[in-house]
Amino acid sequence: MINRKKRNIVVFGAGYVGLSVAVFLSEKNNVCIFDIDQEKIAKLLNAESPIEDTEIQKFFEMEKTRSQKQLGICSDIEEKLEDADYVIIATPTNLNHQTGHLGLDTIRQVLKDISRCSKIPVVIIKSTLPIEGCKVLQGEFPSISLFYVPEFSREGSSLLDEKNPERLIIGFSENANRREIMDISKIFLEDHKNVPVRIMNTTEAEAVKLFANTYLAMRIAFFNEIDNFSVSLKLNSEKIIRGICDDSRIGNYYNIPSFGYGGYCLPKDTKELRKSFTNIPERLISASIEANEIRKKFIINEIQKQIEKISKKQRKVIVGVYRLTMKRGSDNFRESAVLDIVHWLKTYKCQTIIFEPKWNKEYYEDIKVEKQIQKFKEESDLIIANRITEDLSDVLEKTYTRDIIQ
Ligand SMILES: NC(=O)c1ccc[n+]([C@@H]2O[C@H](COP(=O)([O-])OP(=O)(O)OC[C@H]3O[C@@H](n4cnc5c(N)ncnc54)[C@H](O)[C@@H]3O)[C@@H](O)[C@H]2O)c1
Repeated sequence: MINRKKRNIVVFGAGYVGLSVAVFLSEKNNVCIFDIDQEKIAKLLNAESPIEDTEIQKFFEMEKTRSQKQLGICSDIEEKLEDADYVIIATPTNLNHQTGHLGLDTIRQVLKDISRCSKIPVVIIKSTLPIEGCKVLQGEFPSISLFYVPEFSREGSSLLDEKNPERLIIGFSENANRREIMDISKIFLEDHKNVPVRIMNTTEAEAVKLFANTYLAMRIAFFNEIDNFSVSLKLNSEKIIRGICDDSRIGNYYNIPSFGYGGYCLPKDTKELRKSFTNIPERLISASIEANEIRKKFIINEIQKQIEKISKKQRKVIVGVYRLTMKRGSDNFRESAVLDIVHWLKTYKCQTIIFEPKWNKEYYEDIKVEKQIQKFKEESDLIIANRITEDLSDVLEKTYTRDIIQ
């Protein structure tokens, strides 16, 4: 058996994506991770996971027991870059509200450092890119061989998803060569010979990522719209959804109504894609974005009705918001649909408390954060929960949710 030399890989960005990719690749390569956030680096040096992900947390528990660490944590990035065969970029690409497109500045910053190296490593971008983003960057940094390998992992299970990919998309730019493409495929899929590898140019790879996420957003919006309809006509939403989804072409998954799609990726990726349809006819993407806003308004209207009902019986109504996170198993509130409801409760001047163990301050935007679940349940006259958990099993009769499919 050939004992191939381990590759030296530097990962930029120790967030959900960067950390899971780094941990995954560290099994077979020399991987070092770097982040500009010193708090994250301090945690990593202590073998603590800065994010909530069971598999990553398990990895760091193991790291604590190893005298020779499996994952390197970079403090001197220049030295590591000089030795690197590959650099993986997983820095944020937030929506720039002026241009309406995903910003590339954090990636540019990394590419500038790389372009100063005496031996330039191959660069794989994992951050989500706007359409033609990689082409623009390749034009600005012609000496670097750039690849776009879009990321499809989910927050909360990102390392598991890294280990069990459903496909590998390799977007190559004009500087790429065949050997590099083959090696990238090996890096990510060494143990998964049956996973489809789709090789295409970087713009096509960008389209795959954005259209895939937009499909998911559209699907969520679609089932939420069924729920708007069912609630309005006093029909059983669960029965209708199950009846629809027994059709194998539609499928009985990813169909549970919610307060609206959210999280870091779907809101920004759908908006990026809509913005890319300049002079191209489009209706579905815009409609999905609009439908999500309509859904949140519908939910707020339903909550208002519940508050009014209770206030007929008692003078003061306390609304308890159970979790600010977008989904079960996540520690992230980015663009969570629940936040829009919290903001509405504030403008509606409704007395509100929040139960969110992941928020370590006493208040969230002037709203008290109750740390003890029992006290939270006792104090709340109405509980609002995007997703139900065991915590709420004894207070379901005063809980408003659309998490109706078990
Ligand atoms: N979160 C997901 O599930 C997911 C899934 C697919 C794709 N993506 C995409 O991947 C990218 C990263 O997402 P994330 O959720 O991991 O973000 P994140 O915010 O959790 O992590 C990004 C990290 O990059 C660091 N950073 C910023 N600039 C840096 C620099 N110049 N050098 C080194 N580190 C730097 C930040 O400090 C942060 O720790 C985004 O483009 C996102 O759209 C995310």
